[in-house]
Amino acid sequence: MKVLLTGGAGFIGSHTCVELVSKDFDAVIVDNFSNSDPGVIERCEKITGRKIKYHDADVADKAAMRRIFAEEKFDAVIHFAGYKAVGESVAKPLMYYRNNLDTTLTLLEVMKEYGVDIFVFSSSATVYGDKNPVPFTEDMPTSTTNPYGTTKLFIEKILTDAAAADKDLSVVLLRYFNPIGAHESGLIGENPKGIPNNLMPYIAQVASGIRDKLHVFGNDFNTHDGTGVRDYIHVTDLAKGHVKALEYAADKTGCEIFNLGTGTGYSVLDIVNAFEKATGINIPYVIDGRRAGDIDESRADASKAERVLGWKAEKTLLDMCADTWNWQKNIK
Ligand SMILES: NC(=O)c1ccc[n+]([C@@H]2O[C@H](COP(=O)([O-])OP(=O)(O)OC[C@H]3O[C@@H](n4cnc5c(N)ncnc54)[C@H](O)[C@@H]3O)[C@@H](O)[C@H]2O)c1
Repeated sequence: MKVLLTGGAGFIGSHTCVELVSKDFDAVIVDNFSNSDPGVIERCEKITGRKIKYHDADVADKAAMRRIFAEEKFDAVIHFAGYKAVGESVAKPLMYYRNNLDTTLTLLEVMKEYGVDIFVFSSSATVYGDKNPVPFTEDMPTSTTNPYGTTKLFIEKILTDAAAADKDLSVVLLRYFNPIGAHESGLIGENPKGIPNNLMPYIAQVASGIRDKLHVFGNDFNTHDGTGVRDYIHVTDLAKGHVKALEYAADKTGCEIFNLGTGTGYSVLDIVNAFEKATGINIPYVIDGRRAGDIDESRADASKAERVLGWKAEKTLLDMCADTWNWQKNIK
């Protein structure tokens, strides 16, 4: 099966590329490198021992996408490309709506023109909003607390409508919880530009001396130690979930939603302690005020993915910390 990975040079896309190529899928990347660089693809080639083709293009550029679809003759698309920083989306909502929605609409239109009808989408647990009890199940009501989350919710609705109207289309919406970690080779991982928005890259930068201390946003949440609890999942487990989702989507039509998480929640301080244990490095931190929109706890009910896709996260929190450090210590 020949699969287009939009945003395939990014954090999750690159790990998914490695898993797909290792399973003999033919993966082709389209990325404009707005949040990555072509060196990532070279390192994916090193890990897999295979040549990986890519196109430097904007997924919202319809003429470019038409050219690429005509040349490549894809069977399926996994759509990772998009902007993902919550805080930036509050400051620049139009940029987020334009990029995240435009890329998706362009892809759907070009897929239709070229008869490609399998679509896997990177959605997010953020669509569960701030009203649902944990663990979150796929049938719970959705809402959002920031423009980034709203782009994901809008796209879910667009894809649901598109699948209802086109009986040939097969859509899988994957709601990721909190992906962390890095490939066990230490060759690919998360390397955010500027100040990291997420906890683990921040901790890793403190460990390597790029930042002097971690800022913990709030210790008055309703959790076991007062800091926010999230469902962290190793990016390699997440990547394997995409292989399963693709195989599933190839055999059906319609639109299906799956949580990809472990079902276990860890607090910010649990993660700090686990990182210190895995690496032997002390992580100094200060407690700051809460960030707007942050909830007490986000955790998946991951049973549907296990039941229907035959997928379950396998790696431990210590694996996530050790692999993050194995990657981070090589980048300065
Ligand atoms: N990382 C997370 O915590 C997380 C959680 C839930 C959902 N997601 C979603 O998963 C997807 C991948 O996330 P990631 O962490 O790998 O992000 P990332 O920023 O590392 O990867 C996204 C890639 O898309 C590319 N890109 C962005 N806009 C593009 C465009 N218009 N045309 C072509 N390429 C474009 C970027 O250059 C980058 O390589 C995103 O859609 C994100 O919203 C991520």
